[in-house]
Amino acid sequence: MIAIIGGSGLTQLSCLEISHRKNISTPYGEPSGPLTFGKIYNQDVVFLARHGHDHSIPPHRINYRANLWALHSVKPIQVIAVAAVGGIREDLTPGSMVIPDQIIDYTYGREFTYFDGVDRPVTHIDFTNPYSQVVREALLEAAKKASEPIIDGGVYAATQGPRLETAAEINRLERDGADLVGMTGMPETALARELGLNYATIAVVANSAAGRGDNVDTIPLEEIFAVLDKAMVGVRNVLEHMVN
Ligand code: HPA
Repeated sequence: MIAIIGGSGLTQLSCLEISHRKNISTPYGEPSGPLTFGKIYNQDVVFLARHGHDHSIPPHRINYRANLWALHSVKPIQVIAVAAVGGIREDLTPGSMVIPDQIIDYTYGREFTYFDGVDRPVTHIDFTNPYSQVVREALLEAAKKASEPIIDGGVYAATQGPRLETAAEINRLERDGADLVGMTGMPETALARELGLNYATIAVVANSAAGRGDNVDTIPLEEIFAVLDKAMVGVRNVLEHMVN
C-alpha cells in the first residue's frame, strides 16, 4: 500500500479507482477526513486530503498527529506528501516540481510530537536527513519515466501561515539556506519519522515567493490555484509512474 497526502490543488486523485472510504478515530483526535482506498493500476493506494476534501482546514489547524497516525494504522510502505510551495530560488518558477532533501522549521503552536512525555517516555528521533532517500529516489525515477522535469533537492522552509511572508522574511529564509517555502511541511515530516514511516515530499511551486520573480510588490493570489491546477497534471503523471 502506498499512501498519498494531497495538499492544496490536490483534494482528490482522479487517477484513483476508489474502492471505499473509512473514517478512522485516533488517540489524537480526528484526521482531516476519511481515508480513501483504491487502486492506481494494480497498486493499492490510500489517499488523504490534508486540508479536508473541501479544503476548509488551514495549515495551523490541521491535526497532523491524527493524519499520520491514521495513515500509519494501514501500514503503508511509502508515504508521498504533495505540497504547494512558494519558490525562493530563482530556478523554482511557478509550475516547477521539486523533491526537497532538507527542511527548516519556523512553525509554532502546533502539536508537533507523539513523544510529549505524557504517556510515552522521552524519545529523540534522528532527523539529520528528514526525508526517506528511498522514496525520494522512487519519485525521481518515476518523474524520469513520466518525462516530467523535476528538481532533485532543495531546502523547504516551513512557515506558520496562513498569511504569506513579507519580502524581508523571504530574504531571511534565503540567508538561512531555504530554496522553497510552504506551510504544512512541519510537523508532518517529523511526525512521519517518529512513526517510522518512509516519507518524502513532492513540492509544486504555486508562485514565486514574496518579493521574488514577477512578485516584486504583490503575490497574485488568484493565479495560484490556476497554476496548481495545471501543475497537478504533472504530479498525477509522476504518481501514476510511481506505481506502474
Ligand atoms: N509561502 C508559503 N506557503 C506557500 C506559498 C508561499 O509563497 N505558496 C504556496 N504555499
